[in-house]
Amino acid sequence: ADPDPLLDFCVADLDSSPTFANFPCKPASNVTSEDFFFDGLMNEGNTSNLFGSRVTPGNVLTFPALNMLGISMNRVDLAPNGLNPPHSHPRASESGVVIKGRVLVGFVTTGNVFYSKVLGPGQMFVIPRGLVHFQKNVGGKKAVILTAFNSQNAGAVVLSTTLFGTNPSIPDHVLTQTFQVDSSVINGIQSNFGS
Ligand code: GLV
Ligand code: MN
Repeated sequence: ADPDPLLDFCVADLDSSPTFANFPCKPASNVTSEDFFFDGLMNEGNTSNLFGSRVTPGNVLTFPALNMLGISMNRVDLAPNGLNPPHSHPRASESGVVIKGRVLVGFVTTGNVFYSKVLGPGQMFVIPRGLVHFQKNVGGKKAVILTAFNSQNAGAVVLSTTLFGTNPSIPDHVLTQTFQVDSSVINGIQSNFGS
């Protein structure tokens, strides 16, 4: 999805970057083997949170050698019953493979059709670009997924926080009208997401 590379590599120099999107290259004379390998997905993420899940990104911001290459990966850890909540990636399709555990993977099309399946180790899934999807651990033990994206920085729009955890908050009258409920319902949800 990202533009084609113009060089063999352009290991991002994150320190001198003016923006998140377009990184200057680290001088090639300073590039070593270490730049092209990343240990960040080795370790279990901390799932002690509201959702019982943790996404650990291996994108250009954590693994600068991905700069300009149009790819990235995440590790997703799910505690028993943990949920990677409904979200979408504005800049990438996603593929993934379950490494450990049993995981319900679902996504919804622009026509509101819901597709889902429970997957075990070695089974793969795909989420078309921009579509809302989730993964839930239904296996009763810890689960791990590796996901891959055709963007160096896929971005994630998490529906719950996008609507109920913004700063400043979206006006109550917009949210009550959107969901056709009264403001006590909206305030109750907002209080879960610190908005
Ligand atoms: C899973 O959906 C992920 O975005 O890593
Ligand atoms: Mn995703």
